Amino acid sequence: MTFPANPFKPTAGVMPPVLIGRDMICEDFSEGLDDGPGAPDRLMLISGPRGSGKTVMLIELRTIAEQRHWHVVDETASEGLCDRLITQIAPDPGIFAGATIKPSLMGASLGEVSTAPALRPSTLRDAMNARLKTLGKNKGLLVTIDEIQDADPSDITAIATAAQHMFRENANVAFVFAGLPQVISDLLNANVVTFLRRASLKKLGDVPLDDVRESFASTIRGRNVAIDDAALDEATQATEGYPYMIQLVGYHMWRASRRRQSNTADEITMRDVREGIIQARARLGEGVCAPVIDNLPERAVDYLKAMAEDDDPSSTAQVAERMNETMDYANQYRAKLIEKKIINAPERGKVDFAIPYLREYLRTQLASS
Ligand SMILES: Nc1ncnc2c1ncn2[C@@H]1O[C@H](COP(=O)(O)OP(=O)(O)OP(=O)(O)O)[C@@H](O)[C@H]1O
Ligand SMILES: [Mg+2]
Repeated sequence: MTFPANPFKPTAGVMPPVLIGRDMICEDFSEGLDDGPGAPDRLMLISGPRGSGKTVMLIELRTIAEQRHWHVVDETASEGLCDRLITQIAPDPGIFAGATIKPSLMGASLGEVSTAPALRPSTLRDAMNARLKTLGKNKGLLVTIDEIQDADPSDITAIATAAQHMFRENANVAFVFAGLPQVISDLLNANVVTFLRRASLKKLGDVPLDDVRESFASTIRGRNVAIDDAALDEATQATEGYPYMIQLVGYHMWRASRRRQSNTADEITMRDVREGIIQARARLGEGVCAPVIDNLPERAVDYLKAMAEDDDPSSTAQVAERMNETMDYANQYRAKLIEKKIINAPERGKVDFAIPYLREYLRTQLASS
């Protein structure tokens, strides 16, 4: 018998075999859709650190809406967010006042719209209303927006304004926004979008270890691969309940077993688990940190690498010195990195990493360069 395919998914935005510990959120959302316009969970804010499962949560909520035959539009925040939403939502984007169609180079059927900023809230509303008209009775429109921390504030304001009007008119719509915790809390405190304070806030954190253990057991044994209780405990503990780590440990212990097997006894042994944990730890930084680093200018990365030489918060003066730059120069990068929530300033003259495992990740980079 060949070893079954690896069920674990240690990849950003890919559904895990079991979505652990998120039942309540799914129930709240389902109820929100079923209860009709005005239900609080039709406006949801999902906040959580990197790798906590925001993107897969949005995918799950999308599925829930689709099961009710809702129309779903997903977007990821970046420049032009509002225009992309209008293009996606409108059944025919060309008909809206203020929306100019950009000729599409790809020859796509509809092309993209480009809307004057002041007209975005009303154009978005028109687009939503037009879409709702094409949907059957009781069928609504769900809009999900991921990576809200990368949104332009004017786009957020436009979307929130449009959403507020739709709710006021009792339209059959729902909105879910997901982003990093700091940004979600800033958003809630911002005066421009007080409407968002009404949102149902869901904080994604670590999941209970009992549930992790149970999901490992069912995912593994359910595929007729054996694992004993001690091995199961060891694997569970190593995850610390962190969703991305759960997939990493699962994936690498499965792989360790498959590679060792003389392909008769399908079993994940304690040895496989320990090997898997080592592999998982080595990759943790990659998954969470590489996407952050890849988007930064070289000198900003140098700033972070200078910080990584310390075991705890770094002195800004020392970082500048290590970079061979003046304080003024280094501080430009300090400000940018703080703004991007990659580092924070725990006290005057100090900086610290705001992303788990980033220090360790940079050290492995320094060691290999
Ligand atoms: N509830 C969960 N149970 C088990 N695994 C999960 C759960 N949520 C997410 N995962 C797994 O964790 C990893 C990260 O998930 P996801 O990409 O959704 O996180 P994220 O919060 O969107 O991260 P980022 O901020 O980097 O975009 C994926 O491998 C996913 O399969
Ligand atoms: Mg994500």
